[in-house]
Parts: sequence; C-alpha cells; structure tokens
Amino acid sequence: MIAIKNLKKKYSADFTLKIDSLEIPAGEKIALVGANGSGKSTLLKLVSGYIEPDEGEIIFERSIDAAYLPQNPYIFSGSVRKNILVGLVKKEDKSDSEARLKLLLDNVGLSRFDKKSAGKLSGGEMQRMVFARMLIGSHKLLLLDEPLSAVDVDFKDTLEEILSDYCRRNGTTLIMSTHTPIEAVKICDKLIIMHKGEVAEYGDCGEIIKNPKTNFGKAFLRQWRITDA
Ligand SMILES: Nc1ncnc2c1ncn2[C@@H]1O[C@H](COP(=O)(O)OP(=O)(O)O)[C@@H](O)[C@H]1O
Ligand SMILES: [Mg+2]
Repeated sequence: MIAIKNLKKKYSADFTLKIDSLEIPAGEKIALVGANGSGKSTLLKLVSGYIEPDEGEIIFERSIDAAYLPQNPYIFSGSVRKNILVGLVKKEDKSDSEARLKLLLDNVGLSRFDKKSAGKLSGGEMQRMVFARMLIGSHKLLLLDEPLSAVDVDFKDTLEEILSDYCRRNGTTLIMSTHTPIEAVKICDKLIIMHKGEVAEYGDCGEIIKNPKTNFGKAFLRQWRITDA
C-alpha cells in the first residue's frame, strides 16, 4: 500500500499540489486524469521520488521496486536495442534477456529497428521503445506519465493489453496519467480526477463515472461523454 499524508508542493502563487490523505492498495491500477496543469505529472514525480514535497509524506508499506516513466523520457545515444536493455537492472531479470528483448521488440513493433539509432525514431516509435525499456524489468510499481499519448491507435490496443498482462503477472501497482477515457477504463480499476492541484474524485472507475461527487468531476466527465451525470 502507498499512503499519502498532508502532501504539499508549491510551485508558484498559481499552483500548489495539496493532498491531505490518499491510500492506494497494492496491486491497484489507477488512471490519473485532469486538465492540463492540474498536477498529474507533479503527483507522479512526487510518488517516484523525482522531486521532494515541501510538506507531508508518501509512505510505502515496504520497500518497493518502482519504475517511473516521465512525460519526456530520456533517450540514450546508440541503438534501440541498447535503449531497451538499460531497463535491465536487477540480476534476476538479466538471465533470459535476449529472449525478453526479442519478444518486447516484437510486441512494440520495433523488431526491424533493433540496431537503428534511437534518436532517429519518430515520437510514437520512441514512446514504444521506452515502454519496452520499462517492461523488460520486473517492477512492483509503475508510474507512467501519459505513456501512450503519441502511439498510433493500432499499437495502442496491443500496448494496453501488454501492460494489463504485465500488471496481472507481477501483481504490479499502476498509476498512469492519461488524456484518453477509453484507455483509463480499459486498463484501470480506479480513477483519480485532479483539479487545480487537488484530488477532486477518487474511487472505482465505474462508480465515479456513474456518480461523480463534485461539480468539477461532473463537468469533467461530461466532457468525456461517457457519463449521464
Ligand atoms: N518545475 C516547475 N516549476 C514551476 N512550475 C511548475 C513546475 N512544474 C510544473 N509546474 C506548474 O505546475 C502546474 C502543474 O503541472 P503538471 O503537474 O505538469 O500538470 P499536468 O501534468 O496535470 O498537466 C502547472 O501549472 C505547471 O506550469
Ligand atoms: Mg503532465
């Protein structure tokens, strides 16, 4: 379980992320949604430890192996292959690395780009590459910042399935920001709707969609056109 308590991060007079209390049970899959600038990336950066809060804390029940995929991930110089293999950190993940790499390259549709320079990929191809880099290791927590935003529709379905399957197999907790309603409900059980740095709604996808508690939640979901609220 991850417990957030009295968390505050102030960037400017205009923006403070403020979450008094939020608990995420182990193995839960959560979609993080909200308008541009609502604090999705800031929350993911805080949970990953990439940035420190001004106040409050994020408590992990036990030490947990996390992978954080930023909105603009780092691309190493060199080949696609090399860029995926850097995701292998733990000894136990390295044993059948060639087979894993081959399968993932195939899954994300980059087999023929194996030796291509990563810097020469298109935006969508790069996103698929860093997706493979993340999934080549085994992680108990995935923090993904709009991981599929630039990926074509035909690959999206495949990557959504791979991600769901990965979480099921590893018992992985997932927190993923997205702008795509379908993606959120397809992959995730729970929904967090952020509004101006705060959590406006948190609960089961189905329940929130049926019965949002806040006016902002209602307005936001109406935009999504997947609610009668
Ligand atoms: N390093 C920073 N310094 C100052 N302001 C920032 C910084 N990072 C983000 N912000 C501001 O904080 C707000 C929330 O940003 P962000 O968490 O990236 O939103 P989202 O991911 O939901 O679009 C935005 O108004 C953004 O401009
Ligand atoms: Mg963002």
